[in-house]
Amino acid sequence: MSAALKIGRYEIEGELGSGGMATIYLALDPFMKRKVAVKVLPRQFTHDPQFRVRFQREAEVIAALEHPHIVAIYDFGEDDDQPYIVMRYMPGGTLLKKVAAKPLAVAELVPIVNRIAEALDDAHAQNIVHRDLKPSNILFDGKGHAYLSDFGIAKISEATANFTGTGVIGTPEYMSPEQARGIKDVDGRTDVYSLGVVIFHALTGQLPYKADTPMGAAVAHITEPVPNILRIKPDLPPACDSVIRGAMAKHPEDRYPTAGELANDLAQLAAGKLDRKPYIVRARAITRSSAETEPSAAQPPTTITLETGKDVVGLHTLKGHTHHVVGVAFGPQGQILASGSTDKTVRLWNPRAGQAISTLQKHTDGVWSVTFSPDGSLLASGGRDSTVVVWDVAAGVSLRLLKHKGGVTSVAFSTDGATLAVGCSDATVQLWNTNTGEPLRTLRGHSSRVTSVVFSSDKRTLASGALDGTIRLWNATGVTGQLRLVLEGHTNYVWCVAFSPDGQWIAAGTDKTLRLWDVSTGKLLRVFEGHASALSSIAFSPDGRVLASGAGDKTIRLWDASNGQLVRVLEGHPAEVNSVAFSSDGHLLASGGADGVIRVWGLKTS
Ligand SMILES: Nc1ncnc2c1ncn2[C@@H]1O[C@H](COP(=O)(O)OP(=O)(O)OP(=O)(O)O)[C@@H](O)[C@H]1O
Ligand SMILES: [Mg+2]
Repeated sequence: MSAALKIGRYEIEGELGSGGMATIYLALDPFMKRKVAVKVLPRQFTHDPQFRVRFQREAEVIAALEHPHIVAIYDFGEDDDQPYIVMRYMPGGTLLKKVAAKPLAVAELVPIVNRIAEALDDAHAQNIVHRDLKPSNILFDGKGHAYLSDFGIAKISEATANFTGTGVIGTPEYMSPEQARGIKDVDGRTDVYSLGVVIFHALTGQLPYKADTPMGAAVAHITEPVPNILRIKPDLPPACDSVIRGAMAKHPEDRYPTAGELANDLAQLAAGKLDRKPYIVRARAITRSSAETEPSAAQPPTTITLETGKDVVGLHTLKGHTHHVVGVAFGPQGQILASGSTDKTVRLWNPRAGQAISTLQKHTDGVWSVTFSPDGSLLASGGRDSTVVVWDVAAGVSLRLLKHKGGVTSVAFSTDGATLAVGCSDATVQLWNTNTGEPLRTLRGHSSRVTSVVFSSDKRTLASGALDGTIRLWNATGVTGQLRLVLEGHTNYVWCVAFSPDGQWIAAGTDKTLRLWDVSTGKLLRVFEGHASALSSIAFSPDGRVLASGAGDKTIRLWDASNGQLVRVLEGHPAEVNSVAFSSDGHLLASGGADGVIRVWGLKTS
């Protein structure tokens, strides 16, 4: 063998491939009498006076990283200014090659991800981050077992790339938002994100973000919402989308904290044991955006005694909207409050602290209704622009736009979150599949604008109220959308509807009066009178005992649901009250007004 075909002592037999920075050769180690892969790094690296020191240090770290699922490093050195790394030869090819041939089934991917996740978590425990996880760095041995390769190479390359001015290293298609932003001090969760992209790619054969330039891909990771994998491959299990979202969340604190937890969920998914509940930690969304916090003028607490044994205290006045607040909704734990306004924005608040979290902008006209999915991961907002925007709450980004033929007056998620019902000013109720964004059904029957849609928590009924003065009860089981019952509102208008928590009663704001019906029989049970103008919104307290109603007369009234008695009038809004909502623990009541202000009231058990 001629000297020209040797690197160090390794006798080059052929080229295995090349990537962005290096060429990999198949070589023979004449000492050990075994085939090896030699990664030859660019000669330009050695122009950096710091490179040798860094290369030495990093190579030692990588070589010390012993794990049965990491491609073993045998040796490293320099030959004629050419740095090289010698590693185990992997005859089984790369995951990239497999995926290019055919996307993998979830079950096929599980053992691969399991092995890689173990290797990652072991490295992360030693504070070593891969930084360039991608299908071409997942290699297979002769038996088809997966191994992770190129640990730390990105770090060596990065330092030198900056020096040599070659810029971004590796393929940005798999890069976490923080890495794409150029943040150096990344931790293991950057690899969790990349593993999520690898899973996405392996299952679909497609990358989540397609861009013409590396910069374009990097920007997409930072700004673009995570695409719904079910859209690309609808036959994947529905919870697959949640797994991807848990891995690819924009903020590291919203991701699976370890690769192992991601791998576990993937395995559960393959076993058909994972429900839709996304991993993402909701509470984090609250604390994260404190930088965007706007000051709020705290109200002097006023204590009002309710005959039902509760006190009401004005807790916070949330200011920020520049126009009417038309819709308010609490997240499932009451940790987050959303508001929609005719100023075209949706705002998220921390209702307990009385602080603004963020402003969501996508609507091109006034927002009329907001609602959280039951697990709190999604927020839907609808408005005058005939559009429903579905938002990823944790990431604060819009996931989908659902178009309608008229202004959207009301949005509601089914109890399992799978269906989104939309009340529309074209007199229809439109049902959507939450997971795929596909239209499911259009419910017709109302003769004028639908003002309100709501699902009963017993999952059986969807109710819609309309300006035709009727409330229609539709069968919500199996999304058949069969009309079950029509309740006459006894007036010209039904402005708002609400189910009691047990699903047995339905309350509606029928012009100035509040009426309560028995859902199963359709019998009118009670009429509540007192408001001086039309009711805009009603809500049941979670214990089912109190009904809150907001009205154009600037008041919120609290009623004893069991006997129809008025128990309290809450004043404070200088303008019409457009919306009221209870937190699920019953401690908070929020009201949105035409003055652009949201009031948060505390309800205390005495
Ligand atoms: N240990 C190995 N055994 C066998 N083939 C290998 C080995 N390491 C790499 N290869 C092959 O060489 C190719 C190039 O690898 P290389 O690491 O240089 O580039 P990459 O992983 O595609 O991208 P990057 O340059 O960002 O690392 C791989 O795609 C793979 O096909
Ligand atoms: Mg590689």
